[in-house]
Amino acid sequence: MKKIALLCSGGDSPGMNCAIRAVVRTAIGRKIEVLGIQRGYAGLLEENFREMTASCVGNIIQQGGTILQSSRCPEFREEAGRKKAVEILKKHKIDGLVVIGGDGSFNGAFALWQEHQYPVIGVPGTIDNDIENTDYTIGFDTAVRTAVEAVDKIRDTASSHERTFIIEVMGRNSSAIAMHVGICTGAENIVFPADEVNYEEIVSDIKRGMARGKNSSIIICAEGKIAGRSYDLQKTLAEKYKLDSRLCILGHVQRGGSPSPIDRFLASSMGYQAVIALSEGRFPLATVFNQGIVTTRPLNECLKNKSEYLPHYIDLVKSLSI
Ligand code: ADP
Ligand code: F6P
Repeated sequence: MKKIALLCSGGDSPGMNCAIRAVVRTAIGRKIEVLGIQRGYAGLLEENFREMTASCVGNIIQQGGTILQSSRCPEFREEAGRKKAVEILKKHKIDGLVVIGGDGSFNGAFALWQEHQYPVIGVPGTIDNDIENTDYTIGFDTAVRTAVEAVDKIRDTASSHERTFIIEVMGRNSSAIAMHVGICTGAENIVFPADEVNYEEIVSDIKRGMARGKNSSIIICAEGKIAGRSYDLQKTLAEKYKLDSRLCILGHVQRGGSPSPIDRFLASSMGYQAVIALSEGRFPLATVFNQGIVTTRPLNECLKNKSEYLPHYIDLVKSLSI
């Protein structure tokens, strides 16, 4: 490997910059040239490249977002788009590609390997923590921290006014943020993306809590397929069950901010491992975190969306919010 490229794709996540820094510095230290691709797969198709140096990734380890920017690119979902991408990579004499993104971005990267045997490595960067075979993805820890801080603040005012709050968190197909935020804030109920809302259960839990002297209730609602789903929840609780509530959608605030130490550690280790794997001719792989260590796995084992949570977590929430 003489020259590699890297890009960020899909929803950005705190810690992507740490991964960029790690890829660039590990490569340069091994005499491998690195090109940064702006704006994900869209930038690749537009040949929007920039030379990366050790100093251009200085002072970014603590910054949220991604200096390379990210995007969603419908053209890349088509075979013709990916063929054009490989032609561009070869034209620029780029020997391998590091893709930092979620399961969608990984599917795109794997298609480059399957269709053109182009060397790729995936680095899991998404707040959703929904990639199979890695315990954590870069950005999840920071997003959960951001949401937990917000819910704690809402709990203060909810208690003062004896109110029920519905708080919508991100995670299109993923239960992970909702589950973690719910457990960490002592939420009374969690509504998951795929679930039908069980209104009877929510209302009876809240009433039982109030009867034993609770002065607030928090319902964490995962956004699911359509953000804003919690408006329906609020409306039905009010109209059908006469349960008044306030609503807060945390939204993209969860995607920003300085990465937590855990995300910095994960991203630095994964960026490093990605370059080592490419330079040793090991691909197509994804970097993963399992049993306390960052390692690699075949990329095709990391393409599916890990959306479900173990039933004991559901029981944990129920057991602790009586
Ligand atoms: P994430 O990577 O965070 O899951 P998306 O699912 O939006 O985000 O995917 C990001 C981009 O990856 C898409 O805009 C598209 O360019 C590419 N992509 C997603 N799924 C596929 C697929 N099945 N085949 C090829 N490319 C894909
Ligand atoms: O994939 C990360 C994520 O933040 C999801 O949790 C959310 O559903 C989606 O991206 C929002 O996407 P957009 O930035 O396009 O609004």
